[in-house]
This record gives sequence, C-alpha cells and structure tokens, in this order.
Amino acid sequence: MSYEFYKILHFVGIALLFLAFGALAGHGLNGGTRETNKARGLIVGTHGLALALILVAGFGMLAKLAGQSGGSFLPGWVHPKLLIWLLLGAALMPLQRRPALARPLWLLLPLLAAAAAYIAIFHAR
Ligand code: HEM
Repeated sequence: MSYEFYKILHFVGIALLFLAFGALAGHGLNGGTRETNKARGLIVGTHGLALALILVAGFGMLAKLAGQSGGSFLPGWVHPKLLIWLLLGAALMPLQRRPALARPLWLLLPLLAAAAAYIAIFHAR
C-alpha cells in the first residue's frame, strides 16, 4: 500500500477518534454517566478502532519513509507522537468516570492533536 493511502487512513483514524471524544464529552457535560450512556459500546469501539488506524497507518507511513530515505524506522520525532497517542488512548477513562473533566479535556485533547500535527509537519525542517 502507498504512503498516500496510509496518510488518508491516519486522517480517518483521527476523525473517528475525535468523533468518539465529542460524543463522550457531550454526554458527560449533559449530566450523563457511564451507566446511562446508551451508545457506550459504539463510542468505545470507535475510539479503539481509531487508535488502531492511527497507529497502523502511522507505522505504515514510517516504513515507506524509511524505504525512500534509507533512514531510521523509528526516528526521534516519533517518540513524542507515540506519547501523545498513549495519552489520547488513556483519555477515555476520565471522560467516562470524571464528567467534571469533560470541559478541560474539550480544550486539551485538540491541543494534543495540534502538537502531533506540528511534530509531523515540522520534523524535517
Ligand atoms: C502512533 C502514533 C503516531 C505515529 C507513528 C505517526 C506517524 C506519522 C507519520 C510517519 C507521518 C508522516 C510524516 C511525513 O510524511 O513526514 C504523520 C503525519 C501526520 N500525523 Fe501522525 N503519527 C502518530 C500519531 C498521530 C496523532 C495522534 C495525530 C493527531 C491526532 C497525528 C497527526 C498527524 C498529521 C496531521 C499528519 C500530517 C502532517 C503532514 O504531512 O502534513 N499523528 N504521522
């Protein structure tokens, strides 16, 4: 599969991830709990699928880039992106169990996405 295909998959993963975050945060902000969330299975499944797509497509792109340049498969700029990916994975828990955190996370989670995008865009300059 091509680099471009992996990149589109990476973006589909990001779109699905923030769809799931929005659904969970909106539920919490409206006073909903984990138990009253009728769409919980769909949302949690979407979050998991999104993380898998982002990871697989990210490493797919890395393999293509390493093949083109003969460079390292895991360059240093990927390490903070992996940390951001872990944090976006862990964010599911407070969003479900601590509805009071939904509002700050509404701001923080897109900032993490911006940091991941910044790293990807500027790593080569
Ligand atoms: C497992 C973690 C991740 C890995 C291994 C990874 C890897 C990559 C790679 C290899 C590229 C292409 C860079 C290039 O062509 O020079 C890329 C692009 C990108 N990534 Fe990730 N990424 C990860 C997580 C994320 C996350 C969590 C986000 C945002 C939520 C994100 C957003 C982006 C964006 C916006 C681009 C496009 C930048 C551009 O080429 O203009 N990535 N990523």
